[in-house]
Amino acid sequence: MWRALFERQARILHGRAFQGFLDGLSGLGVAADGIPEFDRLTDILDAATGWRIVAVPGLVPDDVFFRHLAARRFPVTNWIRTRHQMDYLQEPDVFHDIYGHVPMLMDPAFADYLQAYGRGGLKALRVDALPYLARLYWYTVEFGLIQTPAGLRIFGSGIVSSKGESVYCLESPEPARVAFDLYRVMGTKYRIDDYQKIYFVIDSVEDLMEATRPDFAPLYERLKTDTDLEPGEVVPTDVRVPRRLH
Ligand code: PHE
Ligand code: FE
Repeated sequence: MWRALFERQARILHGRAFQGFLDGLSGLGVAADGIPEFDRLTDILDAATGWRIVAVPGLVPDDVFFRHLAARRFPVTNWIRTRHQMDYLQEPDVFHDIYGHVPMLMDPAFADYLQAYGRGGLKALRVDALPYLARLYWYTVEFGLIQTPAGLRIFGSGIVSSKGESVYCLESPEPARVAFDLYRVMGTKYRIDDYQKIYFVIDSVEDLMEATRPDFAPLYERLKTDTDLEPGEVVPTDVRVPRRLH
């Protein structure tokens, strides 16, 4: 299963995935030959950005998840999908976690962003604002796009581990692509059962880090009194980003 998934994504992601992601994959020595040894990945990650991998049996409670991230530990699921689930899974498996998430942790700016996100998660729990912060994770860590000199690229883990969405998110005329705006993102609902109807585009991981540095507490208060946007909704203040043409 690992080999089949790996080889399929390698073909699709060439020229579509963010170079930082591809560098992370090769830097970790993640390859087609098998599920990598977690201890070996931790050794390489720890030396590069101070992150470690911990094995978990499935989704963990929110507070546990955030505490792991805040301590630079990434929880990785310890099971792999069956051949009947090649194209679609409801819950993360080891391919999604290792192939999708771990390479980005080799990027120093992204490594800092995800730790800050973990701390922000603990705070969001305290002020009852988790749904807003969860949208930020969804639209960046899982389904983020990035503008680069070479063109629009994918860095979101939920996309790079999906065959269909890796093409759809860049090339389909269907979804909206909008420049990243923190408040806008946290006010936008998302779908978990189909390809996204909207993608947000960052200019660099450093910009994302800067945009998310301020205290979110006042934003949460404003969001609580504002109406959420539907997944496919586009508003006049949105800065549209053109899709990738062949
Ligand atoms: N600045 C955010 C807060 O005050 C924390 C955070 C940083 C959240 C980065 C997400 C990403 O809550
Ligand atoms: Fe994920």
